Amino acid sequence: MFFDTHAHYDDPAFDNDRAEVLAGLKDHQISLVMNPGSNVASSHAAIQLAETYDFIYAAVGVHPHEAKDIADHDLNTLETLAAHTKVKAIGEIGLDYYYDHSPRDIQQLRFRQQMALAEQLRLPVIIHDREAHGDCFQIVREFPQVIGVYHCYSGSLEMAKQLLDLGWYLSFNGAITFKNARKSLEVISYMPMDRLMLETDAPYLSPVPFRGKRNDSRRIPLVAEAVSAIRHMSLEEVARVTTENGKHFFRIP
Ligand code: NI
Repeated sequence: MFFDTHAHYDDPAFDNDRAEVLAGLKDHQISLVMNPGSNVASSHAAIQLAETYDFIYAAVGVHPHEAKDIADHDLNTLETLAAHTKVKAIGEIGLDYYYDHSPRDIQQLRFRQQMALAEQLRLPVIIHDREAHGDCFQIVREFPQVIGVYHCYSGSLEMAKQLLDLGWYLSFNGAITFKNARKSLEVISYMPMDRLMLETDAPYLSPVPFRGKRNDSRRIPLVAEAVSAIRHMSLEEVARVTTENGKHFFRIP
């Protein structure tokens, strides 16, 4: 059984067949899904999905792309939403200097505010860090009480070691099946197995040979296969360990 620790089923890409896709997941050995929010509306939608499906859990937060579109009162809304029993994290939050959809100072401000919210609520965080490794890690270190996961980890082995020392987790998706994945594979071969989680980032980042197509949780075994090859573990063992890690990290009974 697999735990897809990062999938966006509230995304419009699933508007035509969301119920169908979700209904089929259990038959494909997907037992749990974490659906992070990307803005306030999407956080609401994530909770709605978690209320409808017993195997879906939600995180609430504002993605760095959307940082420019939120107001201070939206942070109060996130705080209210986070009280829901199926909300297990604040996310996804962080910095994205690749697309720069929001000005960097605004991204940093909203990131810090949501880290503070996680600290206050004692919730873990789900981090999005693209081409912003230095600033992102600096802000992470400003909140030593907060534990989190770097989703789609793309940093160096050196930074991974420091994050692991702080008790953080790293999660990986279809990107590790791409040709340029050398750095991630190095991190996966080094890191302790009890800090590794699997995800799809659906509808994005379909693993090879489906690269470029819409992704969903049914493709997570392809990610697990890549990990099992690097770690010389069976697919079943990778599935079991990573699912346990996800349940532990998100405090899912
Ligand atoms: Ni995401």
